[in-house]
Amino acid sequence: MSTPSTATQSPIQIRKKVIAGNWKMNKTAGEGVSLTREILDEVGRETQVDIVLCPPFTALESVGHALEGQAVKLGAQNMHPEKNGAFTGEVSAEMLRTLYVTHVILGHSERRQYFAETDEFINRKVLAALANQLRPILCVGETLAEREAGSTLAVVQRQLEGALAGVKPEQLTTVIVAYEPVWAIGTGKVATTAQAQEVHAFIRELLSKLYAPALAQKVRILYGGSMKPANAPELLAQPDIDGGLIGGAALESRSFVELVKAALAAS
Ligand code: PGA
Repeated sequence: MSTPSTATQSPIQIRKKVIAGNWKMNKTAGEGVSLTREILDEVGRETQVDIVLCPPFTALESVGHALEGQAVKLGAQNMHPEKNGAFTGEVSAEMLRTLYVTHVILGHSERRQYFAETDEFINRKVLAALANQLRPILCVGETLAEREAGSTLAVVQRQLEGALAGVKPEQLTTVIVAYEPVWAIGTGKVATTAQAQEVHAFIRELLSKLYAPALAQKVRILYGGSMKPANAPELLAQPDIDGGLIGGAALESRSFVELVKAALAAS
């Protein structure tokens, strides 16, 4: 990868691309370490793209050990906003920090859908993550019914404003936003580049209004929903798409590495 000269550097290149693997409820600790080692063999020294692996809680510690001394970062898939207490089955920001977790996926549509997470609850998690030096990967996105009803942008605006309430300007660029149309997740149905770019541009515009244009230009906005090596180059070439949150294609090293390479090529 060549480093662009100052003269040719566009605002897009200010934002380092991110490829984050959301393993969901897949991989035991042992399987996770094997996958991690395969990924590290190929792109372990890569620093031009931020690579984040988000295994289930039970694999965080072992995957974290496998990542020691490497540029690839460790993310969790969820977190409880409280510091500690009687919250059976939950995990706090501090607990994640002790495992060298740096990123945490918050507000994923599967959490919203199956575990009834509200914008208000997600907001509490975002604030707790930031207070604990964790980078939230904040997911927003509409369902098929919402898209068909023409309310995509209104839904995304509600989710984004809700989740970012109380986030200070100096904290904004720590947040990574992931636009994931629910109808494209795990379905093989990818949003068209035009559909994705429209929402990404809308999100950046909204961040400009809520904060400031200069800050909004620095926020990474990822696309998620059936991103695969075949469709990634076109998506990643869009001016407001700064990477991907990858589910299915993150469970196998070959496709995940190809996605990292696509992000490098688009950088
Ligand atoms: P998918 O999942 O790539 O399997 O569609 C993306 C996600 O849910 O984060």
